[in-house]
Amino acid sequence: MNHSNYEIDQMISAKSIAARVEALAREITSFFSDTDKLVVVGLLRGSFVFIADLARELDLPIEIDFLEASSYGNSMQSSKEVKIIKDLRGEIAGRDVLVVEDIVDTGYTLHHVLGLLKSKAPKRIEACALLDKPSRREIDIKSRWVGFEIPDEFVVGYGIDYAQRNRNLSYIGKVRFRDS
Ligand code: IMP
Ligand code: MG
Repeated sequence: MNHSNYEIDQMISAKSIAARVEALAREITSFFSDTDKLVVVGLLRGSFVFIADLARELDLPIEIDFLEASSYGNSMQSSKEVKIIKDLRGEIAGRDVLVVEDIVDTGYTLHHVLGLLKSKAPKRIEACALLDKPSRREIDIKSRWVGFEIPDEFVVGYGIDYAQRNRNLSYIGKVRFRDS
């Protein structure tokens, strides 16, 4: 029984996600093949499922760290103001870094986070986003690796929430509001 005022329509199946994650991991492994250590930085909370699957497919020496940036609150609106709520635990100076994001939407979050991490002088830093909504972009930023480009729909599942719900869906679905 669903007590909410919306339905979720499947957009990307668990099987398609798994195949895409494997392909991304192969590309990332090959790009960083000479690394002595790759610091994989997950942006909380939306990337937690993606990073778990991606990390297990990387054939590289890695460390995992997390960063939490605020933007949405409980709404469906993006915000230009990005605050760091939880900073990295480890050092990234002189290190190879992969930032793992759930969705690039307006681009402000990734722009802000990459700027902040670049100021800590990593050796190389690149981003991998599971989803990209290019039509929503307000600031010129590109993730080197993208799982899927999607249209301007609000999505949930595979770590991604709507008001903290639905992160535990194994697929990615779009939110459709019922007529009230
Ligand atoms: P940006 O700063 O506008 O690029 O927003 C990026 C963040 O907004 C993502 O990390 C998500 O947490 C959130 N977000 C963007 N689109 C969606 C969506 O469709 N569903 C849930 N969260 C979203
Ligand atoms: Mg997020």
